[in-house]
Amino acid sequence: MLLHREGIQSVVLEARTREYVEDRVRAGLLEQNTVDLLHELDLAERLDREGLKHNGIYLRYHEKNHYVDMAGMTGRHVTIYGQQEVVKDLTQALLDRGVPVLFEVGDVALHDIETDHPRITYEHDGQTNELTCDAIAGCDGFHGVSRPTIGDHLTEYEYVYEFGWLGILAEAQPATDELIYAWHADGFALYTMRSQTISRLYLQVDADDDIGNWPDDRIWGELATRLGAVNEGPIFDKGITPMRSFVAEPMQHGRLFLAGDSAHIVPPTGAKGLNLAVNDARILAPGLAALIRDGDSKLIDGYSTAALRRVWRAQDFSNYMTQMLHDLGGGQFERQLQLARLEYIERSEAAARSLAENYVGLPPEPEF
Ligand code: PHB
Repeated sequence: MLLHREGIQSVVLEARTREYVEDRVRAGLLEQNTVDLLHELDLAERLDREGLKHNGIYLRYHEKNHYVDMAGMTGRHVTIYGQQEVVKDLTQALLDRGVPVLFEVGDVALHDIETDHPRITYEHDGQTNELTCDAIAGCDGFHGVSRPTIGDHLTEYEYVYEFGWLGILAEAQPATDELIYAWHADGFALYTMRSQTISRLYLQVDADDDIGNWPDDRIWGELATRLGAVNEGPIFDKGITPMRSFVAEPMQHGRLFLAGDSAHIVPPTGAKGLNLAVNDARILAPGLAALIRDGDSKLIDGYSTAALRRVWRAQDFSNYMTQMLHDLGGGQFERQLQLARLEYIERSEAAARSLAENYVGLPPEPEF
C-alpha cells in the first residue's frame, strides 16, 4: 500500500492460501505509530470500529494487579486488533486497487540480487514464471527464502529461550479492562483479548511441551492460579509457540531488502513483532520510491541503519519484559530480583515512564 501510494508498481507473492493467512491467529497489539500509519493510508475504518483502545497495563505479582497508566504518562495509546485482521484489510485494499496478490506461490528463487534488475522465479497455477524487478522486498518471514539467499553477507545474532507460550482463544467476556502481565511462582501468564466476547490468554510452558498435555481443564486451572479471576468459555484455538530473539544485519544486500520477521524476531512479551515489521515498511517504501522513480539512492542507503535502530531498541525491551516476568530457571535469587524490578516500577515514576514509552513505542524517526 505504501508503494502504491508512491506510484510504484509491485506484485505480492504469498506461499499460502488467502484463507490461511487471513485466519492464522497471531498477536494483536498495535502501537500508536502503527495505528497512525493505517489512518494515514485511509485503511483504518474497521480498525476504528472494532479495535480496542488501551490506556495502560496491569503488572500482577503476589496476587495483586498494579496499574501502569501509560496514556497518562506518554499521551499515547495501544490498540488491540488481531494481526490477521490487519492482513485482511491490507489484502483487500491491495486487490481493490488492482495490485496483484498471488497466493499459493511455490519454488520461489531470487537471482541477480547484486544487479539493478534482480529476478524472481516462481511456480503459480502449475506454471513457472519470472519477474524482472527494480528491487525485491524480502517480507517472507523467518523461514522464507530471502534471508538465506544473502546469508553469506549477513551477521546473525540469536537467543533461544527454554520456554514457550501456550496461547488460547476462548468465547468468553474478558474479566479485565486492561491486559494483565502476571509474574507467578508457576511461571508467566498474560490476559489479553480480541473483543468484548473473545478472550486471548497465554501461559508460560516448557519450549518442548506438547499441547496434548494440556486439556482445557488444566489450562483454565493454571490460568486462574496465575491470573486470579478469569472468565471461562469454549476454547476454539490453542497452540504452543516457541520464543526466540533474532537479528540479521544488515537488512539489505544489493537490491534485496529484508523487512519484518525475515530479518528479526522478538519474543512476544513486548508485543513488538508486527509493529517492527510495519516500521520497516514505513521506512523502506519512500527509499524504494526515490531509488526507482528518481534514481536517488540516498534514502535507501540509510534503510538498514534506520530500521535496525528500532529493531535493537525493541530487542532490548522485549528481552527486558521477558526476563522480568518469566521463570528463567535461575532459582530463587533471580526470582527475587524480578520482584524488586516490578516493585520499582510501582514506586518510581521514572521506571514506570521508561516501561511506558517503550511499550507504546517511541515516535517515528523524523527523517523518514
Ligand atoms: C495479544 O493480544 O495476542 C498479545 C498482547 C500483548 C502481548 C502479546 C500478545 O505482549
